Amino acid sequence: MFMSNKEAYSSAVRTISRCNYLAKISESDTDGLTRLYLSQEHLLVNKCVGKWMQEAGMKVWQDAVGNICGRYESVKSGAPILLLGSHLDTVRNAGRYDGVLGVISAIEIIQWLQDHKQRLPLAIEVIGFGDEEGTRFGITLLGSKALTGKWSEKWIHCSDMNGITLMDAMKNFGLNIQNIDKAKRNTNDIIAYLELHIEQGPCLEQEELALGVVTAINGARRLNCYFIGESGHAGTVPMLHRKDALVAAAEWISYIEKCTKEIDSHLVATVGMLDCLPGAVNVIPGKITLKLDIRGPQDNKIEQLLSMILNQAQAIALYRSLQFNFTEYYRIDSTKCDARLTQTLIKSVESIQGRSIQLPSGAGHDAIAIAEQWPVGMLFIRNYKGISHHPKESVKIEDIALGLQAYLLAIDQVSRSLS
Ligand code: HGY
Ligand code: MN
Ligand code: MN
Repeated sequence: MFMSNKEAYSSAVRTISRCNYLAKISESDTDGLTRLYLSQEHLLVNKCVGKWMQEAGMKVWQDAVGNICGRYESVKSGAPILLLGSHLDTVRNAGRYDGVLGVISAIEIIQWLQDHKQRLPLAIEVIGFGDEEGTRFGITLLGSKALTGKWSEKWIHCSDMNGITLMDAMKNFGLNIQNIDKAKRNTNDIIAYLELHIEQGPCLEQEELALGVVTAINGARRLNCYFIGESGHAGTVPMLHRKDALVAAAEWISYIEKCTKEIDSHLVATVGMLDCLPGAVNVIPGKITLKLDIRGPQDNKIEQLLSMILNQAQAIALYRSLQFNFTEYYRIDSTKCDARLTQTLIKSVESIQGRSIQLPSGAGHDAIAIAEQWPVGMLFIRNYKGISHHPKESVKIEDIALGLQAYLLAIDQVSRSLS
């Protein structure tokens, strides 16, 4: 099965226009694209993506946690499923291809199969996960974790920035929390998962390649950290008497950067959110809450970095007579992609672009959650300067066309070899 250059190009044009169309479905039309799990925008996007799935010849349903799902029957009844997908939610002020490109590309593959009256030895299901980023409730991979039955009961009591609990958000979306476990899929029903995603990094661009294959997805830890000092009058408290929580946090954050660079160039650490109380120009900050994100390909190095920087935080708090504490709320070990699927993707990429490179993913993906139960493979598409989680995120039509051709080849090959 081969998608011709002409077919691939027109498919890529439609893919871009659909990504642009979905980019308009945002919680605000002023400050960038933001689409949260179980929001009105999520409902709209599910309707839209569901319609495109139907047009491509799929049976469509929304599962018990709000993922939009489509199924393209196999030539063999009762055949196991090759699952394709990615996520439809975004970070705040997001780019328009992160996640969405993978869902729309998968639909394009089914559209091609239907147009060519082709059926595969496996059933193909496409899934648009409702929440991968965790932007609304701070819990990531909610959509994909539901498929493996890994939801924790306490999550429904988590609330968003407006105090709406996940339970209420599900009710408002028309979902029944009693049915959450109905989203769990039988292990034997699904045989493999493939995800096409933008690289969100600079490697493919540096290699001057449109496509690459993911070997592993970096491990990650996320912590809520607190420095607690003493607020006071900014005009009267002498510098030597202060317990300034923000200065302590600032000293720590520079240490984090220095220590991360020194331990290993593949490690990354980010303080992306910081809350300063009481938050007035004439009051010494008494309490800092910050969120720390650490990632790397080797879990032992992540642990080494974590213990070093947490010790340093305690040392800073001690000599500044403050308190420091933290809670870890997210921990994912690095996830290996399946060797056979990776090999198949490499062969497909080589036949489309002459050569392939294999690279780890610095970003997290739904494949992490799916890999707990099924073998996963990931295909990366180059994106401009690797810019992502930013409105400037962009992908070339020609690269999407090559990606679709490689994706179809890999899907055809996987469904033959695994059926
Ligand atoms: O944060 C990440 O790595 C991904 O975009 N969820
Ligand atoms: Mn993302
Ligand atoms: Mn993503």
